[in-house]
Amino acid sequence: MKIAVLPGDGIGTEIVAEAVKVLNVLDLDFEMETAPVGGAAYEAHGHPLPESTLNLAKQADAILFGAVGDWKYDKLDRPLRPEQAILGLRKHLGLFANFRPAICYEQLTHASSLKPELVAGLDILIIRELTGDIYFGQPRGRRTATDGHFPGAEEAFDTMRYSRPEIERIAHVAFQAARKRSKRVTSVDKANVLETFQFWKDVVTEVGREYPDVELDHMYVDNAAMQLVKAPKRFDVVVTGNMFGDILSDEAAMLTGSIGMLPSASLNAQNQGLYEPSHGSAPDIAGQGVANPLATILSAAMMLRFSLDQPEAADRIESAVRQVLAQGLRTADIHSEGTTQVGTRDMGDAVVAAITKTTIKS
Ligand code: IPM
Ligand code: MG
Repeated sequence: MKIAVLPGDGIGTEIVAEAVKVLNVLDLDFEMETAPVGGAAYEAHGHPLPESTLNLAKQADAILFGAVGDWKYDKLDRPLRPEQAILGLRKHLGLFANFRPAICYEQLTHASSLKPELVAGLDILIIRELTGDIYFGQPRGRRTATDGHFPGAEEAFDTMRYSRPEIERIAHVAFQAARKRSKRVTSVDKANVLETFQFWKDVVTEVGREYPDVELDHMYVDNAAMQLVKAPKRFDVVVTGNMFGDILSDEAAMLTGSIGMLPSASLNAQNQGLYEPSHGSAPDIAGQGVANPLATILSAAMMLRFSLDQPEAADRIESAVRQVLAQGLRTADIHSEGTTQVGTRDMGDAVVAAITKTTIKS
């Protein structure tokens, strides 16, 4: 088994180092190889996703990814910006199924911007289609308008599109995930306005007939954004397209009050996966040793479960994380009165200690 480790930019290096530390104490048989990605790769090789990094990622069974991006690269041409690295990995590896759980940890209920009773026990799984939609649709670009409200004016355009197989496969992923949970899927669309999402709704409905045991409902994206802050616990599995999923997953993550706690997985048809925290590179706090490594550590757990077939090891990491929270240890982002504030490295060490302690006991 081979893991490609791509720390990236900003806090990426610090948080990935902690996840690697945790993986190393599990005593499992895998090889890890590190490569630069994003702005770090642009500095080293002149490209955010160099051939060597892409090849390593392709050969690996799983990819542990930190984060990419820094304001200092905002002026670069789009193909050279750090974000292109993650988009390129998704595209080249066909990582179409993005799992973004939004779980509200019992000890962190008060950290939410919503009232505790609205979020206590919250456990939503957002399944975002990741390789289609307006993110990748062609054509796109800038040109001189020949029609519209201002013919002759400079304009920009993108293309929203989904093919039947693209919708079918992500719908299957969602229904199968729901079978392992409370058997409810909400498909989010904008069928009242967009042709693409009327088609989305039709195809998801068809696929749903193959899962009579799973309850399917449909919601427009604007209403879904509202329901997420009004009554988030009404959701279980949410399946949606690339752009709506980008937006709703950030919203859902923030409901838990702890985006620094949320892992994610992006899988292809072969179950090869890229695992990354749901948060970004946070250049404002990079290098200070204060970032929360738990989302990345929990991403490593997801990696063990989904791509490396090591569910027990995944359980050990997740229960170690619950233990350190119960001990009252908190990084700055989730710190509150009565808890102990620790830095990135101490948090990683605490998880390692919790894992080794359980090993000795068992
Ligand atoms: C995400 C991010 C990316 C996206 C960016 C960094 C390209 O926001 O993973 O949600 O838009 O998909
Ligand atoms: Mg996003």
